[in-house]
Amino acid sequence: MQTARRIQAIPPYLFAEIDRKIAQARAAGVDVISFGIGDPDRPTPIPVVETLQQAAADPANHRYPSYEGLPAFRQAVADWYARRFGVQLDPDKEIVSLIGSKEGIAHIALCYVNPGDVTLVPDPGYPVYALGTLFAGGSPYYLPLLPARGFLPDLSAIPSDVARRARILYLNYPNNPTGAVVSPDFFAEVVEFARSYDLLVCHDAAYTEVSFDGYRPPSFLQTPDAKEVGIEFHSLSKTYNMTGWRLGWACGNPEAIEALGRLKTNIDSGVFQAIQYAGITALRLPDRFIEEMRAVYQRRRDLLVAGLRSLGAPIEPPKATIYVWVPVPEGESSTSFATKLLERAGVVVTPGVGYGAAGEGYIRFSLSIPDDRLRTGLARLQQAGVRWK
Ligand code: MLT
Repeated sequence: MQTARRIQAIPPYLFAEIDRKIAQARAAGVDVISFGIGDPDRPTPIPVVETLQQAAADPANHRYPSYEGLPAFRQAVADWYARRFGVQLDPDKEIVSLIGSKEGIAHIALCYVNPGDVTLVPDPGYPVYALGTLFAGGSPYYLPLLPARGFLPDLSAIPSDVARRARILYLNYPNNPTGAVVSPDFFAEVVEFARSYDLLVCHDAAYTEVSFDGYRPPSFLQTPDAKEVGIEFHSLSKTYNMTGWRLGWACGNPEAIEALGRLKTNIDSGVFQAIQYAGITALRLPDRFIEEMRAVYQRRRDLLVAGLRSLGAPIEPPKATIYVWVPVPEGESSTSFATKLLERAGVVVTPGVGYGAAGEGYIRFSLSIPDDRLRTGLARLQQAGVRWK
């Protein structure tokens, strides 16, 4: 049986491929140290797990959940946004639960993109922005994120005929994979741009809580009039070590939230209520849980940056995210260098090109790895004679 063209055109998901390589190396007896996927290694906070245990035992939670998310979950999200960002959200109209933010990011293009339309996609960027666009029959127009511009896209460089055909602008700050943070005026520029071209801004805010040295990343929705033009995707995954739970939300512009919610009622049946109750507990945890998480990643960031610098890598410590974006040595490509680290040192990193053509020339290290493994990984690079210069 022939598969459809849309599935023929897409590669396996980046990390499915990397998992395959890790499994191969492990099967060959290599003790692989993975700085690959951004998947917190620390456990979900105990009160969250306990809420799940209790809620899972309650038969009331065994039936179909409400499609758009429990009112109590959406209220907890609204309270969290008010507390963290000073942003007011109407839980009934401006928030929808997601089976992890990846799900909503993949689906939003089906609500806004007709075949032949364009979306504006950061490059390098989370692969799901472009894949969602392709599934909707649209074409991604890539916006290079370059170090000279602090890894912010140059909106003024987008040809006006492309901008006129664009339906969505995807953004993500703090940024995966570059670790870059947004400059103070950029979101205001984005609101202006979105208004001029009548497009939806989809801001992926998965990393706003993972920040260092006292820096606190903003929400796009804090920008004046942002709610007129955009929505924000958020997730409990990185903030509360809950990647496996699949719980996130989209919030902001009520028409876009309604459209996404209506699409989803036809595709999925919502998130297991017991998980939503656990999510409520997470969103109400005292700040110390997040502070501890930040301290752990900051310590690892400092260890990794110091270790890589001692090997000659020209890098600055990122202000946020669990990623360190590292240029490869001269004469290497992102794939050749990542392969070399795996073959010589049993160390897995993500080749930058996996995030788009403009990611070529970089590799990404994730900090979601215990300190001792991080140290061992660095020691192995040194022993294997890996050097940047
Ligand atoms: C990443 O490592 O880039 C992401 O966490 C992977 C994902 O969310 O699928």
